[in-house]
Amino acid sequence: MPRLLLVQASPRQGDSASRAAAEAFQTRLRELMPALDVDELDLWREELPEFDGAALAAKYARLAGRPHGEREAAAWQTIEAMVARLDAADLVVIATPMWNFGIPYKLKHWIDLVTQPGLAFRFDPEKGYSPLLRPRPTLAIVASAGDYSTGPSWGRPDLATPYLEAALRFIGLGEITVVGQGPTVGPEPAVAAARDKAHARLAVLAEEFAATPTVPAASTASAS
Ligand SMILES: Cc1cc2nc3c(=O)[nH]c(=O)nc-3n(C[C@H](O)[C@H](O)[C@H](O)COP(=O)(O)O)c2cc1C
Repeated sequence: MPRLLLVQASPRQGDSASRAAAEAFQTRLRELMPALDVDELDLWREELPEFDGAALAAKYARLAGRPHGEREAAAWQTIEAMVARLDAADLVVIATPMWNFGIPYKLKHWIDLVTQPGLAFRFDPEKGYSPLLRPRPTLAIVASAGDYSTGPSWGRPDLATPYLEAALRFIGLGEITVVGQGPTVGPEPAVAAARDKAHARLAVLAEEFAATPTVPAASTASAS
């Protein structure tokens, strides 16, 4: 059964443009893939572990090739489970607002937790960094008050798109498709036009995602 991981990064519910766009995408995808299993990770409802203390020490131990102590091992188990949850997905959708040019801190927190040596990437002094997760169709929906379709909005840059592309490519999810939706604030005709344009693009992408063969999880590189 194909599995979609849907990461929700907006704390808003009914008023959220990114949640509504993800809902439109998901509805179309379910029509095309009736057996789709959706795992929704709501970053504002699920508690993420702090990335300090033993968890951080566990990462540095991994980087230095040191074995984990008892507290580090326990913290690392939680992190491994988070990476496994991501890796269990055949398709990934991240629905996020743009906040201060970038992404909300909860989404950055999740990315920091899953971007781990030996689980999601490895480093070799000869070859540099290699991703450890397998490529799979991955979509990021970025809702913004501004319109970034032709460049900066009133002088404000979009740092969310290049960051998400680089961060998710780094761990191996492949080429990321980013769909921006903006403006989400302001005169209703412009807001409605941006919403309709984004939703139409998402309907096409749902068809492309449904037609992409999934890569079996077994092909994922093992932890180094
Ligand atoms: C803390 C905060 C920072 C924001 N920063 C930006 C920004 O830098 N650029 C922008 O275009 N919109 C910005 N916005 C507006 C949101 O991106 C916009 O309202 C978007 O629709 C939020 O997504 P949501 O509707 O899914 O919650 C910001 C909103 C908040 C609450």
